Amino acid sequence: MEAPHNSPAAETPHTPAVMTAQAQVTARFDVTSAEQMQALGRRLAGLLRPGDLVMLSGELGAGKTTLTRGLGEGLGVRGAVTSPTFVIARVHPSLSGGPALVHVDAYRLGGGLDEMEDLDLDVSLPESVVVVEWGDGKVEELSDDRLQVVIHRAVGDTDDERRSVTLVGIGERWSGLGAALEAGC
Ligand SMILES: Nc1ncnc2c1ncn2[C@@H]1O[C@H](COP(=O)(O)OP(=O)(O)O)[C@@H](O)[C@H]1O
Ligand SMILES: [Mg+2]
Repeated sequence: MEAPHNSPAAETPHTPAVMTAQAQVTARFDVTSAEQMQALGRRLAGLLRPGDLVMLSGELGAGKTTLTRGLGEGLGVRGAVTSPTFVIARVHPSLSGGPALVHVDAYRLGGGLDEMEDLDLDVSLPESVVVVEWGDGKVEELSDDRLQVVIHRAVGDTDDERRSVTLVGIGERWSGLGAALEAGC
């Protein structure tokens, strides 16, 4: 008699746990210019609440800072969003009583979260929107929930302005991401 090594009964206990851990909502946008990237940021700002963590990934020049500039405009915060050379994090206070935007460039953040806490940002992260460029593997512990934004050049050519932007909503906070986007937010 053959051993039932592949029977569904043997595999069932593992399957639901894996699916739960990976439950996430994904959406993709095609962006054709820097202006459109900024406009996408303004639109996504409408989804953001105090305490949210947004992680941006994509190669140098992909458009992470450009998207963040739009987020800052949409949130109505003070100061231009730039990619400062010697600053790891910059706080942009709200001009309208909303959450501040904390813009982190984790590229130089060697030590991860400990170093981030040592920055003494003089702002409450739970009351702010924290946007981190290049934070993969460094700042996930800040929140169980996060909106991950992955930007890819659609074409290898660095002169080409087309980008694909993938949003992945991770955790309970983002379970309604698909519905919010469909509702035009
Ligand atoms: N579709 C696009 N989205 C964003 N930026 C674009 C796009 N097309 C061209 N660019 C240009 O690419 C550069 C992106 O720079 P930046 O936003 O600082 O990237 P990153 O922060 O990912 O390194 C800017 O000079 C911008 O004008
Ligand atoms: Mg940048």
